[in-house]
Amino acid sequence: MLLEIRGLSVFYGKAMALENVSLCVAEGEFVAVLGPNGAGKSTLLKAISRSQPSTGMLELRGESLQRYPAHAVVGKGICHCPEGRRLFPELTVLKNLMLGAYLRRDKVEIEADLEQVYHLFPILQERGSQVVSTLSGGQQQMVAIGRALMGKPALLLLDEPSVGIAHRLKMEIFGAIKRIQRGGTAILMAEQDAQSALRIADRVYVLEHGRVGREGSSAELAADDYIRQAYLGVA
Ligand SMILES: Nc1ncnc2c1ncn2[C@@H]1O[C@H](COP(=O)(O)OP(=O)(O)OP(=O)(O)O)[C@@H](O)[C@H]1O
Ligand SMILES: [Mg+2]
Repeated sequence: MLLEIRGLSVFYGKAMALENVSLCVAEGEFVAVLGPNGAGKSTLLKAISRSQPSTGMLELRGESLQRYPAHAVVGKGICHCPEGRRLFPELTVLKNLMLGAYLRRDKVEIEADLEQVYHLFPILQERGSQVVSTLSGGQQQMVAIGRALMGKPALLLLDEPSVGIAHRLKMEIFGAIKRIQRGGTAILMAEQDAQSALRIADRVYVLEHGRVGREGSSAELAADDYIRQAYLGVA
């Protein structure tokens, strides 16, 4: 198993944000995490990338990540595209992208990966020398995903990549994410757009109040009455 989590809990002070969560992601798999505001989706991704301390089992290819700091986890092959993007708005698109490769020394491969990012998001090549603050929200999300890809992840963590983005760009971004998976990268994506998530992910976990409520294949959950009512707005 690429990522295996068992009994993972996170506290913010005395408040429990994640309780006994178990989840796995296979090599090359696309897994979505659905759930309402405050359910713990971002907390889960932060725990995996070690930017938030947690207790419980957290393993990448059988090795515990719990003893590693966040920057070391990037080197292990987990890149986190966080909520709110966290770009450097006054730096150019190219500089922001290259920051994703800061741990790498393989110059030739870095260039090849940059070409891949430009292939996925051609607008970023056109805008390479433009400062990020002048891009649209959707274009900035593309930079954030591109930057995470520049770390050459085996597992890409995406935190609500479609939030606040116009429909057309959102579809473009989901299409690109699916292509990233087809290229062999496993994806764990927190998302509130349940309809889109169920369309592109292989499997889904539903997080509610810090716990996994339901889980299953996208097809199973898309046919589940509770999911249809609570997440797809189908009576
Ligand atoms: N740094 C923090 N300190 C204290 N409480 C926090 C902190 N970050 C998150 N929380 C709380 O933990 C719970 C889970 O938050 P989290 O951000 O993981 O939810 P989420 O599912 O990502 O929500 P959203 O869809 O709004 O992004 C919430 O109750 C939130 O208020
Ligand atoms: Mg969140």
